[in-house]
Amino acid sequence: MTLTWKSAVALMLTLSATFHVAAAQHEAARPAERGVINFLTPILPDPVLQHSKETYVLYGCAYCHGVDLRVRNGEAADLLHSPLVRADVDGGVISHVLRVGIPQTAKLSPMPQFSDLSDRELADIARWIHYSKGQGHFAELMQDRDVVVGDISAGKAYFEKSCSMCHSPASIASAIKVVKDADLKAFIIRPAFLQSTPSFDVSRRTEKAVTGRAKHGTLLENYTSAEVADLLAFIKTIK
Ligand code: HEC
Ligand code: HEC
Repeated sequence: MTLTWKSAVALMLTLSATFHVAAAQHEAARPAERGVINFLTPILPDPVLQHSKETYVLYGCAYCHGVDLRVRNGEAADLLHSPLVRADVDGGVISHVLRVGIPQTAKLSPMPQFSDLSDRELADIARWIHYSKGQGHFAELMQDRDVVVGDISAGKAYFEKSCSMCHSPASIASAIKVVKDADLKAFIIRPAFLQSTPSFDVSRRTEKAVTGRAKHGTLLENYTSAEVADLLAFIKTIK
């Protein structure tokens, strides 16, 4: 079952790769083909992330779940809003689901079993899912513009619980001096360093940089609209 699935997916990808090479030659002349999804571009500047994305695509996850976790054909679980993905810490929960599969589901197709993936591949796939979820959730949070009026004291409590171990309000205040009001929300929930390619220079891979990035990634995936509104209300008072 699994094997058949994978051979089918592999064939599909080979065919689509061949197609893309041919299509690329005409790209300048023709607009993008309607209905053709190119899972692998744009190439991400972070090689680790790009490799993770390729692993996710090559094993066929994108075929059912979409590369951006938005279900393509309505017949798989929505990974962007999955409680299971939300509960995942360090890939453990996702890896377990992949090893056992979900044979009985109400959906048209089962969730295949991927029991032959290595721990490294499972970790890569989980990394892509989390990154992609952060990006998708960011887009959602940016869409609900100022609908909710934040509560300053709830925002202060949230800051103390989730941010103060690494930032003082004063350090945040001085960092946002240069930010325009309209950009404040994006600056707070997805600070620029999170979008930059991580340094692979050992001397710059300090614990602070590595844990800060991981923590901001998790925050970005899980902020609720209300938490963001409260946090912004508080941050505007210290600005
Ligand atoms: C043939 C289509 C198909 C493929 C390929 C596939 N899945 Fe699934 N997946 C499903 C379906 C259907 C479900 C929902 C099962 C249910 O809800 O009962 C699911 C569920 C899941 C879940 C659980 C989500 C939840 O909230 O319950 C995870 C995580 C997941 N898939 C990850 C992956 C990954 C990673 C890959 C690639 C290695 C992959 N899937 C490949 C169809 C697929
Ligand atoms: C585990 C530590 C950690 C936690 C917790 C944390 N951050 Fe950060 N944050 C960092 C690191 C590391 C940077 C990168 C800049 C730096 O080196 O100070 C950063 C950068 C930022 C920036 C960009 C401005 C700047 O100083 O470079 C903002 C804004 C920010 N964080 C807000 C927050 C908010 C709001 C929270 C809580 C919801 C939070 N952070 C929680 C570690 C953390």
